[in-house]
Amino acid sequence: MTTANPLTPRQERVLSGMRPTGALHLGHYHGALKNWVRLQDQHECYYFVADWHALTTHYESREVIEKNVFEMVIDWLAAGLDPEKCTMFLQSRLPEHAELFTLLAMGTPIGWLERVPTYKDQQEKLKDKDLSTYGFLGYPLLQAADILIYRAKWVPVGEDQASHVELTREAARRFNHLYGREPDFDDRVAANLAALGKDSAKRLEKSRKAFQETGDQKAFEGAMGFLATAPALQPRDRERLEGWFRGTGKAVLVEPQALLTEASKLPGLDGAKMSKSYGNAIAIREDAASITQKVKRMPTDPARVKRTDPGDPDKCPVWQFHQVYSDAATKAWVQQGCRSAGIGCLDCKQPVIDGILREQQPMLARAEPYIAQPKVVRDIVDAGTDRARSTARETMREVRDAMGLNY
Ligand code: TRP
Ligand code: SF4
Repeated sequence: MTTANPLTPRQERVLSGMRPTGALHLGHYHGALKNWVRLQDQHECYYFVADWHALTTHYESREVIEKNVFEMVIDWLAAGLDPEKCTMFLQSRLPEHAELFTLLAMGTPIGWLERVPTYKDQQEKLKDKDLSTYGFLGYPLLQAADILIYRAKWVPVGEDQASHVELTREAARRFNHLYGREPDFDDRVAANLAALGKDSAKRLEKSRKAFQETGDQKAFEGAMGFLATAPALQPRDRERLEGWFRGTGKAVLVEPQALLTEASKLPGLDGAKMSKSYGNAIAIREDAASITQKVKRMPTDPARVKRTDPGDPDKCPVWQFHQVYSDAATKAWVQQGCRSAGIGCLDCKQPVIDGILREQQPMLARAEPYIAQPKVVRDIVDAGTDRARSTARETMREVRDAMGLNY
């Protein structure tokens, strides 16, 4: 697992998905979306509405999902995802995901899925739902298919999803091990080497020999560096030559890495994790009066019963909001005023209210035209889905080839 992502080239694809089970809230924004927005300037990014995933837990309430699919895309656009910069699409429009899921399922031991920590955790947590279903057990493998079908290198997710990315890596490794070598591998390698030119090909052959016979690390690094920048090579050709150099064949599926986003620093209104089901959330597009009310009703340090009682910001969820929304001067004012009972809790909350509304302002402005013209949102998703489909189909052709399914 990797957290840092220094200087990776733009073509390394990023992919992530979100379940459309409700209006997105500030916890989603600070925990995930803000990071997605940042990544769209650095990478080729694919972001999708995971409506099938939502059905693994909400199979009895399709109306929830139906209502939230396009609302969620509007939340994304409000947060700053830009259809010119990233690809936004809808999982269920791409049956290729289901096809890859089915093919991966053939060789995936059930134990791998039973051991994914979220499996038992969620069953425990969501006691009101019957999650002893085949779909729920299998959903991390569906997630693996979502990722592998785009050959994504980076998957921005929270810590809770890291085990799913790990399973994805195992599934890719197993697939490559079982089916990795293309039938015309040698011919393709020869063609790729020819494209590099005689001299480069000769040098590569020599260092390959050195690496395979003596494990010469320098030769390996030199060759990888050369291949990574050789302009004559498409990404797939480069992977093939890397496989040839290592002696492992070509990786049909690419092992991704989790790009762990720090846990959201913004808790819910009561200090617990922000979640719609806990009733402690503020939606991204909530109206100003409701936001104001909610913050005014936030619990504070329980020791501050009267205005004259001093308090301790460390025991107060409002302080955690200041850490996200306030500048240094305001934070010093809170610390001093709270501990000396110099300020009241309502005074203390005002800069938080102002900060949330200030952050929300540009989001509401961005959302407005999309709310007025829902067709534009649908067009964005249609265009994204078309782009995603052509990548997904390309991978599936190779997967079917590798498995001998192209009769
Ligand atoms: N399982 C993820 C969640 O519950 C959503 C998801 C589905 C996802 N497929 C994905 C995330 C692929 C990253 C990559 O939040
Ligand atoms: Fe919390 Fe601010 Fe009240 Fe202190 S003054 S208890 S930090 S709301």
